[in-house]
Amino acid sequence: MAVYALSGGATGIGAAIKSALLARGDRVIVVDLNEGDICADLSTEAGRAKAVSGVRALTNTLDGIIPCAGLGPSVKSPALITQVNYFGAVSFVEGLQDLLKPGGRIVMIGSNSAPMAPHDDFVDLMLAGKETEACEFIAEQHPQSAYAGSKHALLCWMRRHCLALAGNGILMNAVAPGFVDTPLSDKVLADKELGEVTKAFCESVPIGRVAKPAEVADVVLFLLGEQARYICGSVLFIDGGHDAMLRPDSF
Ligand code: NAI
Repeated sequence: MAVYALSGGATGIGAAIKSALLARGDRVIVVDLNEGDICADLSTEAGRAKAVSGVRALTNTLDGIIPCAGLGPSVKSPALITQVNYFGAVSFVEGLQDLLKPGGRIVMIGSNSAPMAPHDDFVDLMLAGKETEACEFIAEQHPQSAYAGSKHALLCWMRRHCLALAGNGILMNAVAPGFVDTPLSDKVLADKELGEVTKAFCESVPIGRVAKPAEVADVVLFLLGEQARYICGSVLFIDGGHDAMLRPDSF
């Protein structure tokens, strides 16, 4: 039985990852706001410390870490999006990575919007670990900029840090989902400002439909598994061809 630490496992993609791991007999320690083995708010220092100490109290070793908790662009606080999507995810990994066994895995949850965000001062502030400054920088901008920028920084962080981990036999990769049918995306569709453009975005998916959470979970389980033993530092798009459509010559 493998043991995984998963944030954001109460709903959506995280819940699908949890179900898939439990179905194959693994143990999953879930950190979430209200419904988790550990209830903690990853937007705050205190919540992040509670999350990490809570997981450590339940296990001495891990086979994998999946920081899935995140907020979408319908949340009207760009700073909160930054705190959860980037700093919450990075602290979850940093606080637990020493528990990983050789061969352990980390799967970050990015987004196919990440490559479309500019690599600007906001991204650099996050990568420099300057949380207050990053939140101040983005505070007056559109929540979508915070969303895409935080995911951009998260993928850069993964690419930068996978190398040292690889030397210890730990493989870190990321998935970049497109539009997935979850409570987060329901809120985006229901948003007065984002709803119409998001609907058009969904209708333009080359495969002809949006993703189900289980379709992202399947790929996460692949990256956690033996068949992915030589994959390190990769960003795997799960978006029905949207990234290929929007950026055909970039890979
Ligand atoms: P969701 O809203 O269904 O699930 C997110 C989970 O994170 C919830 O259980 C929520 O309680 C938890 N969470 C939120 N804030 C938290 C906090 N401060 N502390 C602890 N837990 C917190 O969303 P969904 O769609 O399943 O998203 C999961 C991940 O996938 C997120 O990182 C999201 O950015 C990413 N993603 C989602 C896409 C989509 O279309 N749904 C597309 C691309 C990426």
